[in-house]
Amino acid sequence: MSVIILGIESSCDDTSAAIIKDGYLLSNIIANQDVHKAYGGVVPELASRAHQKNIIPVVDQALKLAKISKNDINAVAFTRGPGLLGSLLVGTSFAKSFSLAMDISLVEVNHLQAHILVHFIKELEKEKKVPEFPFLCLLVSGGHTQIVIIKNHLEMEIIGQTIDDAAGEAFDKCAKVIGLPYPGGPVIDINAQQGNKHAFTFSKPRIKNLDYSFSGLKTSFLYFIRDSINKNPDFVKENMMDLCASIQFTIIEILMNKLEIAVKQTGINQIAVAGGVSANSGLRNALEERAKDFGWETFMPEFKFTTDNAAMIAITGYYKYLNKEFTSQDIVPLARFPY
Ligand code: KG4
Ligand code: ZN
Repeated sequence: MSVIILGIESSCDDTSAAIIKDGYLLSNIIANQDVHKAYGGVVPELASRAHQKNIIPVVDQALKLAKISKNDINAVAFTRGPGLLGSLLVGTSFAKSFSLAMDISLVEVNHLQAHILVHFIKELEKEKKVPEFPFLCLLVSGGHTQIVIIKNHLEMEIIGQTIDDAAGEAFDKCAKVIGLPYPGGPVIDINAQQGNKHAFTFSKPRIKNLDYSFSGLKTSFLYFIRDSINKNPDFVKENMMDLCASIQFTIIEILMNKLEIAVKQTGINQIAVAGGVSANSGLRNALEERAKDFGWETFMPEFKFTTDNAAMIAITGYYKYLNKEFTSQDIVPLARFPY
């Protein structure tokens, strides 16, 4: 018998619904929220309201595109956390109501675990190389930066993580300092391709073990720009591409240095990346270089699976369903949700 999962994602500013049948993705609808652009970051109250408006149409479209009747769904999987509480509440409430109304299983999903499991989403008529267990994953998003050992679909161990800002946050905050719109990561990425990554150097943090830190880099970038503008008011305009290339290069070097140590310490050389920042072309090139130099086998998600989406929630829900990991109706969302 087939297993059909409806996945719901609403942890930040994307409302998304997806249908997965026996591990194969049939639909993945995402409604972005442009309302935040004017504020230079996500405004939680506005995000929550937009989720309320979007959730029903998004689920409806996902069902129609997948050509699935709601009566055929075996379970509804939803993001329990981590994320913005008001945003999570919308997806959680929808999933609970849907499971109650349809009398089907409810499955809670950790958003971070889901980012990693995009590597297991199958698509009809598409061949995909899948990592073998155990493998390492560099999870780099707007809210998190972690090195994780993936032991099986549902068992993961964090061996390093940021002690302050996330890598995506570093991209976004540095972008803001030089007047680029939110989210800054994709804009820095495009500009960086035309700049000299060695034009400016920024100091790297000295953090023990496999942990990361990005708040110092953000501050030193801010002071460097402020001092440079004092000397030349057109400094940013005249050096935009080089600034983007240099800050991106520094962030990537910080990420790669710890990843190299993690590979040496664990002896695991299958390396995956996941999360919004894994769309970054410089990061992908840096991984390819390491793959050649050190014999790593690397796994990069398709761009459509790098940022927040419900396909990743549905695939995680699928493995939890097979493992009979269900949730009860008294579940509440969690803004912080370690795994
Ligand atoms: O995973 P995600 O969609 O949301 C979170 O769970 O945080 O990640 C969003 C982050 C943002 O910080 C955004 O600037 C960054 O991913 N991002 C990028 C790129 N595309 C998205 N950062 C660098 N280069 C990119 N191409
Ligand atoms: Zn995310």
